[in-house]
Amino acid sequence: MVRLYFRCFLWLTALAWCAALSAQTILVKPYVQAGRQTALGTTDSRVIVWLTDVQPGQFEVDFGATTNFGRLSRPIVTPLEFGKEGRYLKYSAYLGRLPLDGQLHYRVRLGEQIIRAGVVAARKSATNTVQFVVVGDTGDGKADERKIAYQIGRAAPEFAVIVGDIVYPRGTVKEYLRNFWGPYNNTVDAGPDTGAPVMGTVPFYGVLGNHDVGASNLATVADGLGAFYFFHPPRNGPPPLRSHLRVRGTEIQLAAFKLAASDAYPDLSFYSFDNGAVHGLCIDANRHVDFTEKALLEWIRADLTCSRAPWKLVFFHHPGFQATLAHYREQQTRVLAPLFEECGVAIAFAGHVHNYQRSKPLKFKPAQAKPDRTGQVNGEFTLDEQFDGSTNTVPQGVIYVVTGGGGAGLYKPRVEEVDPRFQPPAANWVPFTAQYIADRHSFSLVQADPQKLVLRQLDEDGFEVDRITLTKPLPSVLPPKSAATNAPPASPK
Ligand SMILES: [Fe+2]
Repeated sequence: MVRLYFRCFLWLTALAWCAALSAQTILVKPYVQAGRQTALGTTDSRVIVWLTDVQPGQFEVDFGATTNFGRLSRPIVTPLEFGKEGRYLKYSAYLGRLPLDGQLHYRVRLGEQIIRAGVVAARKSATNTVQFVVVGDTGDGKADERKIAYQIGRAAPEFAVIVGDIVYPRGTVKEYLRNFWGPYNNTVDAGPDTGAPVMGTVPFYGVLGNHDVGASNLATVADGLGAFYFFHPPRNGPPPLRSHLRVRGTEIQLAAFKLAASDAYPDLSFYSFDNGAVHGLCIDANRHVDFTEKALLEWIRADLTCSRAPWKLVFFHHPGFQATLAHYREQQTRVLAPLFEECGVAIAFAGHVHNYQRSKPLKFKPAQAKPDRTGQVNGEFTLDEQFDGSTNTVPQGVIYVVTGGGGAGLYKPRVEEVDPRFQPPAANWVPFTAQYIADRHSFSLVQADPQKLVLRQLDEDGFEVDRITLTKPLPSVLPPKSAATNAPPASPK
């Protein structure tokens, strides 16, 4: 009889254990991240990440070049403990030695149960065409965010960059769960009312906006700085900076944060990557960053000059050149303009201002090293009035794009037409705006090969609202050597 009771006890224990396992909730379905690699090498890597409640599971990830997979990765499990703000388990599976230009098939399993399966593009080698999305100001939890997510899914980019204010209002883990993961990852049915599970197959790079660092005191908001848990950026940033983002909290909170965000803090602030003919540089432009700090400027210069990619693009949150009254005086990134020009940057993308703006190609000579007390940076403008992006496609200067129409409420008035209260002096503003669309949400879709880059702006219904083409100048033809020898010396300019 005792033996029977003991057997019953074992069975009941096993059943309870199974019941507990089945109670596990997947809060963020597996999604893909770009991983640590920066410059193009001979192979690529990816990270598959997901989030559950605190019930652990023996997950595994099969991956390979075909649906036969052939390789296995077991995830690292990281507890995220925020007290009454929530407790989670984060899983990160590293997939390495992936051939460039290929496709990666993966599936995440819990035993025999398939949690998610997907196909991800590896990065393109330098001579191949790559297509990607840039968008900012996304996770507001409104209907327009879901429309944009759906259109991004339809565009099928190979990667995406969110230029800040990823999640509103304070970038907490709870806000990611409420406002972001549904439209961009968890939804099953793609549609304008639901979004699309685009992050299951497309690696998104994150850039820090003001709302993303809006809760950096963990003693006040324990689950703040959610971006550092969810994004796994490349790790090639500058040495420790005086003006890096500072995280505050109790000693225990800071230790837990650094452990849990190990792949992202502080790397999410500054990093770069290559994909195909594109070099992308992501910069934290929040006010804690000092763009006169020598170590930072040297790192930016080295990063841009070392890259041989035909198209050098920069991504940050705060636009220096834009014509909406809102945020107009936050011009701290203007001081980087000479460096961008010197290093051959083609386009600088920003968000923060909730609409679409594209500048004429411009050169800017700042009259001051830092913004003044109002945040403004005066200087001297030189505009390229000839570039039109269709018949003249070689810009003389940097094109500044604001693509902050990712879902948050639109900013409408343009400073030069609407608001009589604000008349910036010529040292601060000239008519540099080539395109301005503020009556709809939108995102940028870019296609680049070594000779040509096409930027299209698509609205929330998928209609193209702007398009420009950039091409590389034809190589100058040198005169024959004999002719050069006999030619008179050139007069100095
Ligand atoms: Fe912002």
